[in-house]
Amino acid sequence: MFSKRTRIKDLLQSDNVNFQATVMGWVRTFRNNQFIALNDGSTNNNLQIVIALGSLEEQLLKRITTGACIKASGEIIASLGKGQKIELNASEVEILGDSDAEKFPLQPKKHSLEFLREIAHLRFRTNTFGAVFRIRHSLAFAIHSFFNKKGFVYLHTPIITASDAEGAGEMFKVTTFPLDGTAPTNDDGSINFKEDFFGRSTNLTVSGQLEGELAAMAFSDIYTFGPTFRAENSNTTRHLAEFWMIEPEMAFYDLEDNMNLAEEFIKYIIRYAMDNNKEDLDFLTQRLEEEEKQKPQNERSEMSLLQKLEFVVNNNFERITYTEAIEILKESSHNKKKKFQYIIDKWGIDLQSEHERYLVEKHFKKPVILTNYPKEIKAFYMRQNDDGKTVAAMDILAPGIGEIVGGSQREERLDKLTQRMEEMHIPTDELDWYLDTRRFGACPHAGFGLGFERIVQFVTGMGNIRDVIPFPRYPKSASF
Ligand code: 4AD
Ligand code: MG
Repeated sequence: MFSKRTRIKDLLQSDNVNFQATVMGWVRTFRNNQFIALNDGSTNNNLQIVIALGSLEEQLLKRITTGACIKASGEIIASLGKGQKIELNASEVEILGDSDAEKFPLQPKKHSLEFLREIAHLRFRTNTFGAVFRIRHSLAFAIHSFFNKKGFVYLHTPIITASDAEGAGEMFKVTTFPLDGTAPTNDDGSINFKEDFFGRSTNLTVSGQLEGELAAMAFSDIYTFGPTFRAENSNTTRHLAEFWMIEPEMAFYDLEDNMNLAEEFIKYIIRYAMDNNKEDLDFLTQRLEEEEKQKPQNERSEMSLLQKLEFVVNNNFERITYTEAIEILKESSHNKKKKFQYIIDKWGIDLQSEHERYLVEKHFKKPVILTNYPKEIKAFYMRQNDDGKTVAAMDILAPGIGEIVGGSQREERLDKLTQRMEEMHIPTDELDWYLDTRRFGACPHAGFGLGFERIVQFVTGMGNIRDVIPFPRYPKSASF
């Protein structure tokens, strides 16, 4: 059987020696016509393959180049050299895929993250991206494991929808109409979507929450985990046009229950990665330390990546209201010295990421849950508080990132909900199915959305969100 091979991770973890093994992978380096560093993606560590001088034909040796894919068989022996416990003493080497050393873009040296983004189809084969995407996998697995243990139902919500769940108008259109001006029109010149594929105007979903709420009104506890799309023109290190979101929705939950679940959830998945991706996290911690050395002393972070993760899982998140946050910010010397780009001068304004990061990184030095925002800056479905001004919203802010979670208790009272929708010009007729949950057996319920790439960024310490999703989509970029 062709695929009878041992994973390099398993070989390196075992203490056994003096047995035959076959490995397959990609050549990272080949030194002195003798030592191959082979990587198969199961771990960041390479297996050293030793070729006895004169044992392979010259022609074959020439084809062992950086990037080439090879199969090697031989005896696993205790390593004579430094840096590894074992090595494979090759008796047979076969080239599975040649790689022209002159043309292969990944040279065995340090490349910038920007350059690697341009060759995202090859960057999986670097140590950094190997570590990032193995951790991304672990976090995804931990998310399902967390909710499964708690008895939540995994719900697949639609990707093509006719509604704007956030009411923010940041949607990508979906249509089969031609774009050359020949699409059918109404008398007033507008496009006649009645003749389009779905018989109406449709778009890619910005959130599965509204459908999630319908299911929570039957299963009590559900979660979604899927791609979401936002046509916001944000060229930042924290925004993508296509990102993955986890949205749990729970019947019989109020805002406090919601916050408790979100905090427990975040700690669980971080802990899972710490327990299961130790090598990769050690590597990324070291990588970040080297990156930090380039910065001036006063800009370096006080904790290493691993210390930061340890700190987050072992400490309570700070919980404060929006009103309290505004007071802290207004009174801060940062604000008084006009160091914020957007000065905090009154209650009601939306917080910018500079403000969120000030609260988390400078003031509290830990994750913060902000609650009870002004209703004007939040979505229509959030439950209105008795003060008539605020809604039962909560955002979780993380060091180095800012907002990682947005959520709320939902408005379950039909009259209040429809009134708010009208005020915000959200079409109630299009969302009649959503309003039905408030007509037939409504109950207090709550939920939140965790941006998957933002938590991957937090756990891996990667500075740019474009480096934690395999093929990022952002303004003017949809390669691969
Ligand atoms: O705060 P948001 O917009 O909330 C919702 O979509 C709600 N429906 C969630 C819910 O209550 N079920 O988005 C939730 C999270 C944000 O906190 C952020 O982490 C992430 O999704 N997010 C993005 N991540 C990457 N790129 C973008 N453009 C993002 N927009 C939001
Ligand atoms: Mg938000």
